[in-house]
Amino acid sequence: MSWQDKLRAVEPYVAGEQPKIVNMIKLNTNENPYGPTPKIKEVLNQLDIDKLKLYPNSDADDLKSALAKYHGLNEDEVFLGNGSDEVLALTFLTFFNGKDPILFPNITYSFYPVYCDLYQMSYKELALNEDFTMNIQDFMQPNSGIIFPNPNAPTGLLVDLDFIETILKNNKESIVVVDEAYIDFGGVSCVPLIHQYDNLVVIQTFSKSRSLAGSRIGVALGNKEAISHLYDVKNSFNSYPVDYVTQQVALASVLDSQDMKEKCKKVINTRERTKAALKELGFIVPDSYSNFVFVKHPEVDGKTLFLALRKEGIIVRHWDKENINQYLRITIGTDEQMDRLLAFLKDYLKR
Ligand SMILES: Cc1ncc(COP(=O)(O)O)c(C=O)c1O
Repeated sequence: MSWQDKLRAVEPYVAGEQPKIVNMIKLNTNENPYGPTPKIKEVLNQLDIDKLKLYPNSDADDLKSALAKYHGLNEDEVFLGNGSDEVLALTFLTFFNGKDPILFPNITYSFYPVYCDLYQMSYKELALNEDFTMNIQDFMQPNSGIIFPNPNAPTGLLVDLDFIETILKNNKESIVVVDEAYIDFGGVSCVPLIHQYDNLVVIQTFSKSRSLAGSRIGVALGNKEAISHLYDVKNSFNSYPVDYVTQQVALASVLDSQDMKEKCKKVINTRERTKAALKELGFIVPDSYSNFVFVKHPEVDGKTLFLALRKEGIIVRHWDKENINQYLRITIGTDEQMDRLLAFLKDYLKR
């Protein structure tokens, strides 16, 4: 027997790279090309650095209250964490403890199976149709919990509220988690369903629409009882995940949500223009309700194209995974960045 026999050896999630290439066009991790609200600068300039000697307000009261107001919820229906990856990790740990498998699509956020392996939970991947749509029937089987992003990542496809309600009604004995990381880019949020279904937990992030990936702030929204269990687990792990500076930064973002909405509109316009241009170049472009497109070209291998773009300093995301290895996920950048991408592709496809 050695210490290695007692290890929890896991294969970690591999995040999109943050390369240090000069003048690159970074379209690989779905960051927002437009910065956060300029109000944050004022807040940072006025920070009371003496407060840093104290532990932060562990309940992040001001931020929680502003978020509750924004979503039309009560404060005890809001949970805050250090990025939505941490909120997701705590959500799995809190709610998904039965004997049956956890259900999620086979093409989805690749962190979900990593959490299951970490916690030694069983899971079942639900095969998407060829057009990446989900089958409602797949969610009608015994399970210890259900999770999917809406819109889904990396496909970008959205399901409507009827689809979500059908899942909620047929799974009253499980928590259904809807990961709305990209909902502000044109989807309809299911947050208003929280007061109708006590088995719904919605997760959102400040990393995408609010342009605060560098600040690490994630949110879970659900009924009071579910949220209090989530806090119990968090407080058994780390009482102070959201630091003082992040609380101030995130609060400024919530108080200026109009800025976020305007920037999302710009991203949506660029996305629609990019979709049309890619189709014209012969790409297969599934519909997207997020700040990325998931595309393939019938005549060019996905990995080859990924490497050609990289050589040009244009970084997109590619997975060496069956089903999706012909696809590239391209984050929507500024109009100028997308024009450079499109010009390169036009030229490359002529060769
Ligand atoms: C579907 C989905 N959920 C959650 C996250 C995590 O975001 P963060 O930890 O930055 O809040 C991501 C990040 O790419 C994502 O794509």
